[in-house]
Amino acid sequence: MKSFKVLTVCLGNICRSPAAQGILETVAKESRIFLELDSAGTAAYHVGNKPDSRSIASLRQVNIDISSQSARQVCEEDFYNFDWIVAMDKANLANLEKLQPADSRACVVMFGEFCERAQFGEVDDPYYGGDEGFVHMREHLTAISQAFVAHLETL
Ligand code: 4NP
Repeated sequence: MKSFKVLTVCLGNICRSPAAQGILETVAKESRIFLELDSAGTAAYHVGNKPDSRSIASLRQVNIDISSQSARQVCEEDFYNFDWIVAMDKANLANLEKLQPADSRACVVMFGEFCERAQFGEVDDPYYGGDEGFVHMREHLTAISQAFVAHLETL
């Protein structure tokens, strides 16, 4: 079974990237690949915090538990430890590209690149909106995760 190390990245590491990690874990379990997963934020505002309660609740509705995750910031080692670093929006991607050391071989890409449904490849930040934004985020991340895992299966 092929195995990949994947880091999901957003801004705060409390809404989108922990959810992406949880959903990817579930999608990969039903696939022909094995994923080692983690998530991180480009910013340090929420380091040490659990995911946002709205993210936890929206994933609990589909029996995915992300409550034990704890936010951390992206660090230099990540660029050597992970095969794939997937960004939730263009600002995250730009920050990651600035941080990536020249000798890192990680593929740093937009997560939404793997799914036509993602407008400009971005996953909208639900932080300042209501609960419905978190359901939309979950559905969007599920579609992208399925497309991403299908891509990894072809490698
Ligand atoms: P995330 O959402 O990047 O999906 O975790 C956000 C979380 C916190 C903030 C912004 C976005 N914030 O400004 O604190």
